[in-house]
Amino acid sequence: MTSTNQTTKDRVVIFDTTLRDGEQCPGATMTFEEKLAVADLLDEMGVDIIEAGYPAASNGDFEAVSEIARRTKRAIVAGLARTIPNDIDRAGEAVRFAERSRIHIFVSTSPVHMKYKLQKTPDEVLAMSIASVTRARNLIDDVEWSAEDGTRTEVDFLCRCVEAVIKAGATTINIPDTVGYTTPDEYRALFRTVRERVPNSDKAVFSVHCHNDLGMAVANSLAGVEGGARQIECTINGIGERAGNAALEEVVMAMRVRGDAYPYETGIDSTMLTRASKMVSNATSFPVQYNKAIVGRNAFAHESGIHQDGMLKHTQTYEIMEPQSVGVSKTSLVMGKHSGRAAFRSKLEEMGYRLSDNQLQDVFARFKDLADRKKVVYDEDIEALVDENIATAHD
Ligand code: KIV
Ligand code: ZN
Repeated sequence: MTSTNQTTKDRVVIFDTTLRDGEQCPGATMTFEEKLAVADLLDEMGVDIIEAGYPAASNGDFEAVSEIARRTKRAIVAGLARTIPNDIDRAGEAVRFAERSRIHIFVSTSPVHMKYKLQKTPDEVLAMSIASVTRARNLIDDVEWSAEDGTRTEVDFLCRCVEAVIKAGATTINIPDTVGYTTPDEYRALFRTVRERVPNSDKAVFSVHCHNDLGMAVANSLAGVEGGARQIECTINGIGERAGNAALEEVVMAMRVRGDAYPYETGIDSTMLTRASKMVSNATSFPVQYNKAIVGRNAFAHESGIHQDGMLKHTQTYEIMEPQSVGVSKTSLVMGKHSGRAAFRSKLEEMGYRLSDNQLQDVFARFKDLADRKKVVYDEDIEALVDENIATAHD
C-alpha cells in the first residue's frame, strides 16, 4: 500500500527529542532507567539523532545524557545548551563518550524574545551565537545552532545569524516554530528564502522543529522539508511543551504512505512505532488519545457496520496503511451497536463458532440489544450470547 511510483527519494534525518523537549512538558518526567530504556528503543528503531537531555539543567539530566552517550550504538547523541559557556562545556562533557555526538545550541532571535526574555540587542545575540558555536566546535565536530522562535524572527536578521554561525562551524541549522504559530506555506517559504539568501547555506543541514499549538506541527514539518530542510525534530506521541511537538510516528508514516507527495525516506523501522508509543506513554504516564493518528488504540479499529462490511471485502476500503507496518498485529472490528451482521458473523467464525442462519439471526438480535446498553461488546459477552442460544435450543 506504500506508494512506489517514486524511485529516488531524498533522505530525511530523524532527530528525536522525546527525552528533552518531550520530557519538558508538565508531568512527563521520566526516571533515569526509563530514559535509558527509551533511548535504547529509539536507537534500535533507527532514529538518527537522540537528543538525550539538557546536561546543564541538573545533575540528573547530566547523568542520563552521559549514560545514554555511553550505551548508544548507532545514533548520534545530542545534548542541549544555551549560548552560555558552562552549558556548552557541560553538554560537551556529557556527550563525549558517545561514538557520535552533537552539541545543540539555542538562542532566541525574535524581537519579542530578544527584548523581553534575553534583554539583549540583535548584535549581542549574534555575537553570543558566534562565540558559542566557536566554543562548541573546539569540543566537537557536530554542532547544531537553533534560532529559538525562528518563525517570528525578522528574516534579514535570521539570515545574518545563519550565515555567521555556519562560518563559525555550525553543521546543522534549526529554525524552530517554537510557539506553533506558522503555517505550512509560510514555513516552506521561510526555508527557501533563508537557503537562497545565505551564501554558505549548502555547508549545513537545515532542520525543522515544530510545536503543535495550532495543530499544524506535522504539516509544518513536512512543508519545511519541501522548503529544503533535511532534518525533522520530533517526539514519540508528539509529547512536548504545551500542545507538544510534531509526532515522530506521524511524520514518518506520512512520508512512507504518501511517498508520491513527499518523496523522502527515513531510516526508521516503522514496525517499532507502536512499541515506542506504548513505552513512552507508560514511562511518562501520559495516555495516548484513542483517536491519535498511527498509534491511537482506534487507529486500526472499525465499528460501523458499513465500514466493517467494507473492510471484510477489502482492507483498502477504509485503511490507508497496513496495521502491521506500524507494529499492530491486526485490524480490529470492534463489536458495538453500529456493527453489522457480516462483521458479527466474521467475529463468531474467528472465535471458533459456526452457527446456522437461524442461530445467527437470534444471537445477532440479542447482540444488538446488548450493544444498545453497553458501549463495547467484548468477546466474553459474545460467548455468553452464543451459550444462551445453545442452552435455549436444548430446553
Ligand atoms: O521549541 C524550541 O525552540 C526548542 C529549541 C530549544 C530548539 O525546543
Ligand atoms: Zn521545542
